[in-house]
Amino acid sequence: MLYVEILGNLPEMARDEVRAMLELAGGEIVSRDYLLLGVNAGEEALPFLDRLGLSHEYGKLVIEADSVEELLEKARGVEWPIGGTFKVDTETMANCRHNVLDLPRKLGAVIHSKGFRVNLSRPDTLVRVYCGERLHAGVRLRFFDPKDFERRKAHHRPFFRPISLHPRISRALVNLTKARRELLDPMMGAGGILIEAGLLGLRVYGVDIRPEMVEGAGMNLRHYGITNYELRQGDATGLAGLFHKRFEAVATDPPYGTSATLAGRKRDELYRDVLGSIHDVLEPGGRLAIAFPADFDGEEEAERVGFKPVGRYYQRVHKSLERYFYVFER
Ligand SMILES: C[S@@+](CC[C@H](N)C(=O)[O-])C[C@H]1O[C@@H](n2cnc3c(N)ncnc32)[C@H](O)[C@@H]1O
Repeated sequence: MLYVEILGNLPEMARDEVRAMLELAGGEIVSRDYLLLGVNAGEEALPFLDRLGLSHEYGKLVIEADSVEELLEKARGVEWPIGGTFKVDTETMANCRHNVLDLPRKLGAVIHSKGFRVNLSRPDTLVRVYCGERLHAGVRLRFFDPKDFERRKAHHRPFFRPISLHPRISRALVNLTKARRELLDPMMGAGGILIEAGLLGLRVYGVDIRPEMVEGAGMNLRHYGITNYELRQGDATGLAGLFHKRFEAVATDPPYGTSATLAGRKRDELYRDVLGSIHDVLEPGGRLAIAFPADFDGEEEAERVGFKPVGRYYQRVHKSLERYFYVFER
């Protein structure tokens, strides 16, 4: 068993991102306690979990218990998958129902008595205890350092436009499409989504109506070492004529309505035409992940052109921008 701790700001989207990766890897989510997911999957799932954007960490799940006493009792009986020294670290989630104040010391003593050495400043293995409805103890395998994502935020790129999604969200959109080989962003802007897809080793295709975006996105991709790409200047409402191929997956963040980014089109009309155009070039069974402002009914319009809705996630960005991220299947 594995655990994945998802981030708290878009929890349903984060859970579905994990689920999408497990569908590729052949595993499943078997339990959930607030932000902690219990996952049934083998070692072969780890490279897929390594792709995650909206998670904090994952690891091996060792014990689950309904009280501190039960946890300590079980801790005496199990084999701890600890290499070298260790430290116990507790995560008190918002729904924590147990008194875990003294738990690191008590659990540390139990594990120590089994022959492992404690190192509080630089442990080789971090034992994690999550307190929610239940108690869950495991060993961390991978921590997703926020700095890695922060480093790719828009203002760190050579070609800067302040219209980019946060890299964690871009990464999640890519993953929600379940892309394995390639991904198209037909309104790529500065290329934020394509950067995340490219870093996963996917071949990336991009379109933007503005030539300076095509040049800038290329610059940004190369800056992050991504060379497996094809970018075109063109209109996202006419994709079938641009590449003469179908795509495994599409993810995009269309403009929200300032006249400059809409390139002279009416917003809702542009959204409808883009949905139809994406449907034309997506492989059967292929997925689209797309963001729309909350006052546009993306689901109704997508169904009209033949998409099947798979997921919808609300986000309030600020006072004047609320949006939904949608996932559709062709
Ligand atoms: C919100 S931005 C995309 C930001 C991008 N996801 C990123 O992270 O950098 C939307 C982009 O759509 C482009 N655009 C607008 N109308 C378009 C159309 N009809 N076809 C293609 N691109 C278009 C705009 O030029 C703009 O760069």
